[in-house]
Amino acid sequence: MLCLGIESSCDETALALVRDGALVDSLLSSQVDVHAIFGGVVPELASREHCRFIGPLFDELLERTQIRPTEIDLIAVARGPGLLGSLLVGSAFAKGLSLALGKPLLGINHLHAHLLANGLEHEPVFPAIGLLVSGGHTNLYLIESPAHFRQLGRCIDDAAGECLDKTGSLLGLPYPAGMAIDALASVGKADNALLPRPHLHNDSLDFSFSGLKTAAAKAAAKKLENCEVRSDGMLEDFCASLNTAIADTLTQKLEKAILTHPEAKAVWLAGGVAANRLLRRECQNLAERHNLVFLVPSARLCTDNAAMIAYAGWLLGKEGFSHDLALEAIPRGKMMPDDMRKGKKSF
Ligand code: KG4
Ligand code: ZN
Repeated sequence: MLCLGIESSCDETALALVRDGALVDSLLSSQVDVHAIFGGVVPELASREHCRFIGPLFDELLERTQIRPTEIDLIAVARGPGLLGSLLVGSAFAKGLSLALGKPLLGINHLHAHLLANGLEHEPVFPAIGLLVSGGHTNLYLIESPAHFRQLGRCIDDAAGECLDKTGSLLGLPYPAGMAIDALASVGKADNALLPRPHLHNDSLDFSFSGLKTAAAKAAAKKLENCEVRSDGMLEDFCASLNTAIADTLTQKLEKAILTHPEAKAVWLAGGVAANRLLRRECQNLAERHNLVFLVPSARLCTDNAAMIAYAGWLLGKEGFSHDLALEAIPRGKMMPDDMRKGKKSF
C-alpha cells in the first residue's frame, strides 16, 4: 500500500511517500529563513509559503520517484494541531487529490505522528510511554496502539522548545535556537544551581516551562551582560545549565509516568527537541534503569517532516481508518475530535 503524507502544520512544507511501512522518498521546503528575521513564525507568511511550495513539491516528488498519481492508495495529511491557515493549505490540497484520484483521505494528529515515526526505524513496542517534546508541545502519553493514545500530561503554558527558542533569541542565537543551544551546551559546564527544575513537586504529569523561561532570561541578563561571552566560555556554560535544567525536568516527569504505568514495555521519545543529545542520553539511561525498551528517531526524523505523516497514515490506513471530505483542520488549543471512520481493512 502506497501512502502519500502531507505536512504543513507550521513552517515546513513537506511531502513523503511510504510503501508498506518503508519510506520511498521525502521532500521538505523549510521557511526558517523567512521567519528568522521576526524571531518566530509569522502565521500569514507561513500560509503563503505553503501555498507557493506545495504544488511544485508534489510534482518534484513524483518526478524523483517516477511514481504516477494513480499509484497512490491513500492520502494522509497532518490535520493539527498547528496554525490554522497553514493546516488549511495541506488539507485542501489533500482533499483535492483525494477527490481527483478517487482515493481515501486520512487526517493525522501531528503530535501522534512524531511519536509513531519511531516505527520507520525501529520495531515499535506497545504499550509505551511516549514523551513528545517540540516547539509548541510537551506531552506525555500512554500509547496502546497506533490508534490509541491516552494523554497523561501536557504543558500548561510554554513548551520546552519555546523556552529554548526564546532564551536563545535573548542570547543572540539564530531562530530556532534549540540546535545551537545543544551544540554550545555540549562544550560547556552546567551549573546545576543556576536554574530551577519547574513544576515537579506535585502529582501531576503536566509540564510548565514559563517560569524557567523567565528565570533563564533574568540569569542570562545578569551573567552575560558586558561580558566577552564567546572568549571565556560563559555562553557555553549558560547553555549547558539551561539544557540540563530542561533535560532533568523532562526526565523526572517521564520517570513519574513510568512508575505510574508499570504496564508499559517501552519509552518512546520524539519531536524537534528529541534531537537534543543530552535529552536522548538521559531518557535512554532512565529507560534502561527501568528495563524498558528505548526508542527515539534519528535527528532528521525528530523535527517536522512528512515521512512521519505518511508512515502514520500507512499504519492507520491498513487498519481501515479514513475520513470524509468534512475533515476539519484543528488549530492549536482546540480539542482534537475522535472522528476517524473505521471500514474494512482495504489494503
Ligand atoms: O517538532 P518541531 O520540528 O516543530 C514543532 O512541531 O514545534 O520542533 C521544533 C523545536 C524548536 O523549538 C527547536 O529549537 C527544537 O525543536 N530543536 C532542538 C534541537 N533541534 C531542534 N532543541 C534542542 N536540541 C536540538 N538539537
Ligand atoms: Zn512538530
